[in-house]
Amino acid sequence: MNIGIIGAGYVGMTTSVAFAKYGHTVFVIDHDQDKINQLNQSILPFYEEGIENLLNELVKEGKLFFITNLEECIDQCDILFITVGTPSSKEGVANLSFVEAAAKEIASRIKTDQVIMMKSTVPVGTSRKIKEMIRKEVEKRTEDISFELVSNPEFLREGKALFDALYPERIVVGCETEKARRKMEELYKDFNSPILFTTLEDAEMIKYAANSFLATKISFMNELARLCDKVGANINQVAKGMGMDSRIGPQFLQAGIGFGGSCFPKDIKALLALANVEEAPLHILQAVSNVNQTQVNWFMEKMEQQLSGLSKKRIAILGLTFKPETDDIREASSLKVIDFLLRRNASIIAFDPKGIEHVKKIYPSIHYTSNPYEALKGAEAVLLVTEWKEIVEVDWESAKDIVAQPFIFDGRNALDPATMENLGYRYVGIGIGN
Ligand code: UGA
Repeated sequence: MNIGIIGAGYVGMTTSVAFAKYGHTVFVIDHDQDKINQLNQSILPFYEEGIENLLNELVKEGKLFFITNLEECIDQCDILFITVGTPSSKEGVANLSFVEAAAKEIASRIKTDQVIMMKSTVPVGTSRKIKEMIRKEVEKRTEDISFELVSNPEFLREGKALFDALYPERIVVGCETEKARRKMEELYKDFNSPILFTTLEDAEMIKYAANSFLATKISFMNELARLCDKVGANINQVAKGMGMDSRIGPQFLQAGIGFGGSCFPKDIKALLALANVEEAPLHILQAVSNVNQTQVNWFMEKMEQQLSGLSKKRIAILGLTFKPETDDIREASSLKVIDFLLRRNASIIAFDPKGIEHVKKIYPSIHYTSNPYEALKGAEAVLLVTEWKEIVEVDWESAKDIVAQPFIFDGRNALDPATMENLGYRYVGIGIGN
């Protein structure tokens, strides 16, 4: 099939590469000329393992094209994806202006029998409204045009996005006609993944519910970790014991210094905002958000207490991105950590394999290094914020000779406390009773 993908962001690019890999011809459309120029040289605007290489191959094979104008490809497309951003407004409501602009552009040029796919994460009810908006625009035109609109949320994890796009655990398709359903089966026939067909609204809600539930697991563990600390229990062992129950499962029970990223915080805000408008409050999700907002402070206050103050202390922050294997720092806990330390007048040196350039733009005055050992040199305390392999696998034995004080605060419970203590470190983790 021929596919047009509007929006060359994270989701748009990952989706494009996956469809092209499965043999479809994909046109990526973005108004940002610089971005399109870069993509034509196989340069991605973000870091994600494996995508740039595959993109390069697919361009050479003539499967993937980058253009700035929908008009150049619309005649050839069977399917048009909307993959533009839906950032949070101040009130937490999803900003739909990019989705609406893309829909208008499609409406003015759409040909009969084309299918529009909503892949951007939009509040429940939006796809139907956009469909109606397109229908009204299309009616202004003289030709008789029938089209379909399908909701097809994405479940990509940053850092593993290519794998998730090529081998999805499930494909959720909200669609309303048999004709659209058959097209979806054809589109996804080589993916070998189960497809769940639903209504538009169900598909939209599944996306928010899945992210909210995963975030709920994390905040539950993070809050429980605070109690574990008080009563001398170890949250890691508790998670292990809970996860062995197949009804609970072992994933997303890892307590830490809070969740971040471009998805969980934004989607939770949007679902809470929708719930308020509809007067059906989501108390549990509100608590999930509250726990996350206070998790950094909880750990930092503990650090402050154990170090008897932070003023003028040299603190090495290890990890800035919201999780490993990405350069994304959106809503990263590291930003709240830096804020806290700056308020306390600490001296900061930060290491991260991919995130330094982005954080530097927000905090130009702190020190950065691309070498973890440089960060550790002379540090009076080490604070692990992101569990990058480069950080976990530091030679902690020799590192002990370069730090000023062997004091480590592990915000991801990524190191083994007994090993660290045997090496002579004072180790403080999240909810492990110390
Ligand atoms: C998340 C979902 O996992 C994807 O399924 C979804 O498609 C995506 O959002 C999206 O909506 O686009 P992502 O934001 O890439 O993916 O990151 P996750 O791996 O879910 O991690 C989110 C945050 O939770 C990270 O800060 C991570 O450190 C934290 N986390 C995760 C924990 O603190 N504990 C855990 O046990 C797991």
